[in-house]
Amino acid sequence: MVKKNFYITTPIYYVNAKPHIGHAYTTIAADVLARFHKVQGEDVFFLTGTDEHGLNIQKKAEEAKKEPQIFADENTAEFKKYWEKLGIKYDNFIRTTDEKHKAAVQKALQALYDKGAIYKGEYEGYYCVACEQFKNERDLVDGRCPDHDIVVEKVKEECYLLKMSGDVQKKLIEKIKNDEFRIAPEKYKNEALSFLESQDLRDVSISRKNVSWGVELPFDKEHTTYVWADAFLNYLTGLGWHGDPKDIPSKWPADVHLIGKDILRVHATIWPIMLMHLGIEFPKLLFVHGYLLSGGRKMSKTIGNVVSIDEMLEKFGVDGTRYLLMSAGTFGEDVDMTMERMVEKYNADLANGLGNLLSRIIKMSEKLNHELKDYIGEKYEERTSTKEFYKINLEDINLCGTLVQIWEVLVRDDDKFIEENKPWELAKSDKDKFEKVMEKLILDLNLISELVIPFMPETSEKIKKALETKKAGILFPRIK
Ligand code: MSP
Repeated sequence: MVKKNFYITTPIYYVNAKPHIGHAYTTIAADVLARFHKVQGEDVFFLTGTDEHGLNIQKKAEEAKKEPQIFADENTAEFKKYWEKLGIKYDNFIRTTDEKHKAAVQKALQALYDKGAIYKGEYEGYYCVACEQFKNERDLVDGRCPDHDIVVEKVKEECYLLKMSGDVQKKLIEKIKNDEFRIAPEKYKNEALSFLESQDLRDVSISRKNVSWGVELPFDKEHTTYVWADAFLNYLTGLGWHGDPKDIPSKWPADVHLIGKDILRVHATIWPIMLMHLGIEFPKLLFVHGYLLSGGRKMSKTIGNVVSIDEMLEKFGVDGTRYLLMSAGTFGEDVDMTMERMVEKYNADLANGLGNLLSRIIKMSEKLNHELKDYIGEKYEERTSTKEFYKINLEDINLCGTLVQIWEVLVRDDDKFIEENKPWELAKSDKDKFEKVMEKLILDLNLISELVIPFMPETSEKIKKALETKKAGILFPRIK
């Protein structure tokens, strides 16, 4: 049987600094989904990488007194290091400074130019260097970018522009409306539509004259490619695409582009319109998540209110960190995180929750001479419905909801079940019932180990091992 393809991407991250927990949030979510689809037997391709060109990185490299390439190499190495620490298993890591990527970008831009989708002109506007985007004047707050709280620059320069309005805009609106190009959750679809329907899109500058750190335009060496036009194409070059619109990799279109809400607008305008001009299919789904907030504001390097990945890894371990991020709040909404709350949650759900449940069951089974058999089969109603709920919800990218459900119907309910049934008394008074009670608990642990594979791969292995060896170490040490 031919396996179903599942191609998922993260945004490619700017290399102006090392990764922070906001980047980890998207990347872990993509990893969870990739692992889930693998377990479902699909042919999964998970792409992540780094976005290395542009003015911001050029400036940051200058400040660090380093060549931009060296600077980019160093920070890319940091991203790779952290993804390894966090158990991220990507299939390819694309860098926009890869020679193959750059050559493909040039080929694609040449195709757009030849088609007349790109033309020479002039652009005047306010540029936020941290967004790497021109901003509408009405979106500014006191002349500052509302996302980064920095003063925007007024720019007026000769450039090449990509045609954005007219037919392409109409078609785009149609495709978003009928979900051919799906944007989820619904509120982001509405947000994109209301933006697109409220105005004629302004043609976008796809080149910069005064930014040297970028891919040269093939048809005018005085310009470099605008960093977003360069970056979007990673979703194709990451599959090995060489830039020929007629020769598209078989894994395209992407099933999911996972992005934060900060980059919804560009993903819902420039990217699909580039594809439309190139005659290439749209991605199937743009799934948008909210911000990780700290003290009510977006965590960001530029703002400087970032929780470090190291701090989380040190306190909570890999799986603890993955669990806390994925269960921090509805995926799609903003989530405010404080260290205190995370410690509380870690102790409640992991140390006193899952960890304690496992060691309790294994210890009881040992002490009360219960055979730890391999129980096979679906014996309990709630098990099938839990599995169904799980599948439907993960297919729907309801990451937090899935974890909440597992904890509710398995971890917490089993704790209660133990209290209610008191297996230590049953072992003396009613052997049959004792067997049944233990059987349910062991089957539940089996199921938990299966269901948490995408979220907490190491923990899943540890649970399986504990069931095999009848020895449970401490899964999650309590934090005082
Ligand atoms: N390079 C562009 C993306 C190009 S994709 C073709 C970019 N890079 S970035 O380094 O700024 O990373 C943006 C992404 O990181 C966000 O879209 C989001 O997925 C993630 N996050 C960065 N900060 C975040 C939070 N505070 N909270 C949640 N996600 C965050 O934009």
